[in-house]
Amino acid sequence: MGNYTEKINLFKEAMSNYPTGVNVVTSIDENDKPIGLTVNSFASVSLDPLLISWSIDNTVSTFDKFMKTDQFAVNILAHNQADIASIFAGSEEGRFAKCDWDLSEQRLPLISDVMASLQCKVFKRIEAGDHVILIGEVFNISVQDEAPLLYHKRKLGAFPRSFHEE
Ligand SMILES: Cc1cc2nc3c(=O)[nH]c(=O)nc-3n(C[C@H](O)[C@H](O)[C@H](O)COP(=O)(O)O)c2cc1C
Repeated sequence: MGNYTEKINLFKEAMSNYPTGVNVVTSIDENDKPIGLTVNSFASVSLDPLLISWSIDNTVSTFDKFMKTDQFAVNILAHNQADIASIFAGSEEGRFAKCDWDLSEQRLPLISDVMASLQCKVFKRIEAGDHVILIGEVFNISVQDEAPLLYHKRKLGAFPRSFHEE
């Protein structure tokens, strides 16, 4: 048992030292209400077809809704959107009232001024331990020339300026 706890702690230490981008994954529930959460488990999967993946913890309040929806949007946050990452990881109430967003033609909530948004059809759901991996087939992409928001060691931030210097 002690050995297992030690392994979890080492796993958390290794994973928290692995830097990622930050996304808010959104969708619309059966009552036409927008739902969404902050996610850093996002990854590119395939070019043909265009596939991406992310995973959802089965304790997330909107878990059942994401199990039913047939589409979702990945909003890849820009460097100056740490506040949005915190809003969508915090109390569930009124998340969408606290940021600018629009419903796309395909009825997916798109957050304004993000680095990129990918609208996806659910391609596959795979149960994996205490998470479900959602694989999405991308049917619409929009990209802005913005630097991304990063997550590393539980902190949100932008690339240091020196990174961009020659
Ligand atoms: C940077 C960051 C990354 C996260 N990544 C994920 C993730 O990939 N999958 C997930 O299920 N939860 C992830 N979370 C946690 C969810 O955002 C959080 O549990 C969720 O918003 C809680 O929602 P609820 O109040 O609807 O249960 C992440 C949180 C943060 C701050």
